[in-house]
Amino acid sequence: MMRSTGVRLANCGISAVRTAGRPSVAARSFSSELDFLGSAPAKSMKDPSSRALWEKILLEVPKIAGASEIPKVGPKYEGLLKFMDGLEDSLKAGQSAVEKPPVTVAVTGAAGAIGYATLFRIASGQMLGPDQPVILNLIELPGAMNALKGVVMELQDCAFPLLRGINATDNLEQGFADVKYALLVGAKPRGPGMERGDLLKDNGAIFTKQGAAINKTAHRDIKVLVVGNPANTNCLIAATAAKDLSPTQFTAMMRLDQDRAIAQLAAKANAAVKDIDRVIIWGNHSANQYPDIHHARIGGKRALDLVKDDAWMKKDFIPNVQKRGAAIIAARGASSAASAASAAIHCMRDWALGTDQWISMALPSNGEYGVEKGIYFSYPCISRFGTLAPVLNLPVDPYSAEMMEKSRKELFEERDAVAALLK
Ligand code: NAD
Ligand code: LMR
Repeated sequence: MMRSTGVRLANCGISAVRTAGRPSVAARSFSSELDFLGSAPAKSMKDPSSRALWEKILLEVPKIAGASEIPKVGPKYEGLLKFMDGLEDSLKAGQSAVEKPPVTVAVTGAAGAIGYATLFRIASGQMLGPDQPVILNLIELPGAMNALKGVVMELQDCAFPLLRGINATDNLEQGFADVKYALLVGAKPRGPGMERGDLLKDNGAIFTKQGAAINKTAHRDIKVLVVGNPANTNCLIAATAAKDLSPTQFTAMMRLDQDRAIAQLAAKANAAVKDIDRVIIWGNHSANQYPDIHHARIGGKRALDLVKDDAWMKKDFIPNVQKRGAAIIAARGASSAASAASAAIHCMRDWALGTDQWISMALPSNGEYGVEKGIYFSYPCISRFGTLAPVLNLPVDPYSAEMMEKSRKELFEERDAVAALLK
């Protein structure tokens, strides 16, 4: 890491030297000759260590670039060092002059358990990046506005440099006004013994109103992540109510399932989470989801070849991921909150900023993998420039096809159960 910092600076230095003359062939291959730099620290050109680094570079440059490019720099290289100081000041001034304008992020259910675990991470830059100022619109039910007041106080007390405003409201149209990123969390959680689908009759209607308000006042490029359960069908309800927006601007959160599956595979294979990719969650965020590791890799190698345990995959891994939410409710007496918040941050971050990884996201189905239009089905996706695309043409063996079919069927049943909300 440190070494590449040295290279970056050195390349910068070569541009400066180029101003004094045409770059030599040797200068063009300069970065390959930088072994002498070692791990030089260089946070600021004004650091004594940077100065020493530059003096070292310039002492070596004659050997590499040819002495003809040096003399114009001046004795003891003071001229160049001054130039670099000035350049750094201009860069810093330029950077602050072009600071990104704040974007507005809405979170519903902001005083609830997931809301509380999410807001501070958004405000600290973990969702949209360390250079993206944010305004938080916190939406709650009237009865929770007092609790929300306390959350606002705590956000203020963190003095987050990126947090440029907080609006707390129980008015949906105000809450979604000009919002570019919305996390729809506010909804009832299930209790012990319930399936997520049992929440449809209580929660479904919430998403009609929210979709309509988003349609009316949100930024036209809004991205909406539905977390409240049953997430996929609530997502369908909200997207249907947002008549002027594209269904692709809505997704339901599958990321918690993906993160859970990766964690389970890492534990089984005694591997690091960072070395695992291409784990897929297909279908519904329910006990009928299909956590699929047929395409998963560990350190670039096929995970199943390393694990070599089909029984574990079918009898432990898949049911454990499918039923993890219920296991947490049984243990905690409340549904997952911090891990759900973490997944929401990961999910929106990767959607907004892009990622090299496959991420499982619920998309409006369009015939991919035999899932006809009409539901939000989770696929492995590529995310680039704010757009999601499903990874297509993956081989699907009969076992996987059967597992995916269960989710497909369930999602159409959920859709039919809320037909009245889909007009
Ligand atoms: P919670 O009860 O702690 O908080 C919910 C909050 O939402 C409450 O403060 C409530 O006042 C508010 N709320 C309810 N209806 C609202 C509305 N119409 N508008 C605005 N706010 C409203 O619940 P929680 O633990 O934060 O869970 C929230 C939802 O997220 C639940 O439906 C839960 O099942 C779901 N969940 C989904 C996932 C997932 O992976 N998709 C994971 C965990 C939880
Ligand atoms: C989860 O997966 O933890 C959530 O959807 C909460 C639940 O009801 O299981």
